[in-house]
Amino acid sequence: MEKIVSLCKRRGFVFQSSEIYGGINGFWDYGPLGAELKRNVKELWWQSMTRLREDVVGLEATIIMAPEIWRASGHVDTFADLMRECPLTKKRVRTDQVEPRSGMAYRFTGAEVAGAEGRVEKPFAVLVEKGGHPESARKKAREFFLESLPAAQGDLARVTLLGEQTVAVENSIDFHPDSSVELGPSRPFNLMLQTWVGPIQSDENVAYLRPETAQAIFAQFKNVLETSRQKLPFGIGQIGKAFRNEVTPRNFTFRSREFEQMELEFFIKPDEVVEAIAGSVNTQPVEGHPGEPQADWGWQRWHQYWVEERVRFYEGIGLSRSTLGFHHQTPEELAHYARATTDILYKFPFSKADATGAVKGDELEGIAARSDFDLSQHERFSGKPMGVFDEELRTGWTKLAPEKQADLSKRYYEARLRYLTKAGLPTEKAEKEAREDADGLAKGQYIPHVIEPSAGVDRLILALIANAYSEVTDTDAKGKSETRVVMRFHPRVAPIKVGVFPLLKNKPELVAKAREVQQLLKSEFNCFYDESGAIGRRYARQDEAGTPFCVTVDFDTLGEKPELLDTVTLRHRDDSRQERIAIRDLVGWLRERVR
Ligand code: GAP
Repeated sequence: MEKIVSLCKRRGFVFQSSEIYGGINGFWDYGPLGAELKRNVKELWWQSMTRLREDVVGLEATIIMAPEIWRASGHVDTFADLMRECPLTKKRVRTDQVEPRSGMAYRFTGAEVAGAEGRVEKPFAVLVEKGGHPESARKKAREFFLESLPAAQGDLARVTLLGEQTVAVENSIDFHPDSSVELGPSRPFNLMLQTWVGPIQSDENVAYLRPETAQAIFAQFKNVLETSRQKLPFGIGQIGKAFRNEVTPRNFTFRSREFEQMELEFFIKPDEVVEAIAGSVNTQPVEGHPGEPQADWGWQRWHQYWVEERVRFYEGIGLSRSTLGFHHQTPEELAHYARATTDILYKFPFSKADATGAVKGDELEGIAARSDFDLSQHERFSGKPMGVFDEELRTGWTKLAPEKQADLSKRYYEARLRYLTKAGLPTEKAEKEAREDADGLAKGQYIPHVIEPSAGVDRLILALIANAYSEVTDTDAKGKSETRVVMRFHPRVAPIKVGVFPLLKNKPELVAKAREVQQLLKSEFNCFYDESGAIGRRYARQDEAGTPFCVTVDFDTLGEKPELLDTVTLRHRDDSRQERIAIRDLVGWLRERVR
């Protein structure tokens, strides 16, 4: 990771935000190469998820939305991490991220100011690891108690510690990783960043910076449905910024406080509706990709389809299956409304090995089957209907045998009742509403279910950078070796697609021709023109930027060998192979490889 972080800064992929002021934790800027890489990734996602599909449309919503959205989604009440605070430094850590430590705990019951009126009684403990000095624990304790002892007048020497005891501790997760002070109790800490909208900073004007892009899609579901001429199943995709006040941002850009998401909400018919229309519902899992979508697919098939589609996407930009991992959330990990969630992981350099030594990876994207929870919540909170009318269901329903109608209606009723009861409705009201919902099937009405593939742009950029990073050692004729970095990006995501060089910069004919080639390519491919330094150095600079191809204009291009007139040397980054290609063929040749 250290090498990657240093390369990112050195070559302008990623910089620390506000670096000249010492930086701001959890915020990162993308430099010239990083900005291109990010743009390419987002373009490819948008292209494959919306434009190349007939069943997905796009949305670009605001970052700040009505705060009711976050109450309906559950973020105001439950989007929290459990945190523990160091009573001395006030620094917080996530309860689940405290590493076990062993040593001697120095415990104190309080402190007083000798000879003056001042005494405080509260427990305080500091861990001293092997080789550590007990005096450091006592100093921290004095600092802690000093605040509550005005009689000490800010002088540590006047604080006398009380009730010192030492206790051996083994693998304890109760001490702060930096201060070693015993942590306070776990408390929930909401991760949403807040602001105020309007001129008055009052509670009524509090608004949130969105912690995910998904909710805007649910809130705009009906508008999109009505204006896009889509019918279920169909999806709405969105790329945009999200903000979370992560307590411990870490692993470079992996866990940031400002980041970007690429999210799709793919709306499907509930299984009861599929069965009513198609006669049966296909719930069987298959090996690998389940193929083209079919009318009888239930939610499991759709979930599997999207997991496999997303893996194909990653493979298509250079992350092979062997670099990825999968985590199928256990029933204990699943949100109460979710039916299944599969996380696609990438094996980052910081990913930990399990007890067997296998590296599973860390999350790039989660694909969740979220039932009809989100639309139902917005229906309840906004009072606006979120259901759809489905002509196929209305006509299909009339053709069903009465027993089948009763069976499907009962199953739909039970599912709705489960949701409404969980949502806190009194039993009678919940039963009445669930009955109305079930009766809606006969009229062709229901609330769509959703499959949500939700990916992080920044994590993907980090994965692509880690995946591309390689070192090669060149040895010159005199036996001198030099190790340099080659970023082996897939040409589709590479920030610069082609470097264009004149062999020599002091030959105007070569420079003019190279500029002509650059002109020819630059409207379609991100080009980098470079005429300074030896040609080998220029190749090396492009290798480090991850440029997959370089073309060099030389004397043969100008016709020194007549048969090579208007051809250039094309050099491949990954194996340094060189070939000759006609300038007129360049655009087509590159297009085939970078698209
Ligand atoms: N709408 C569902 C949702 O937001 P999530 O698992 O919380 O689900 C989805 O986030 C993706 O967003 C993650 O898989 C990850 O790639 C990215 N992400 C989440 N928190 C992040 C953070 N603090 N920094 C960078 N990326 C993050």
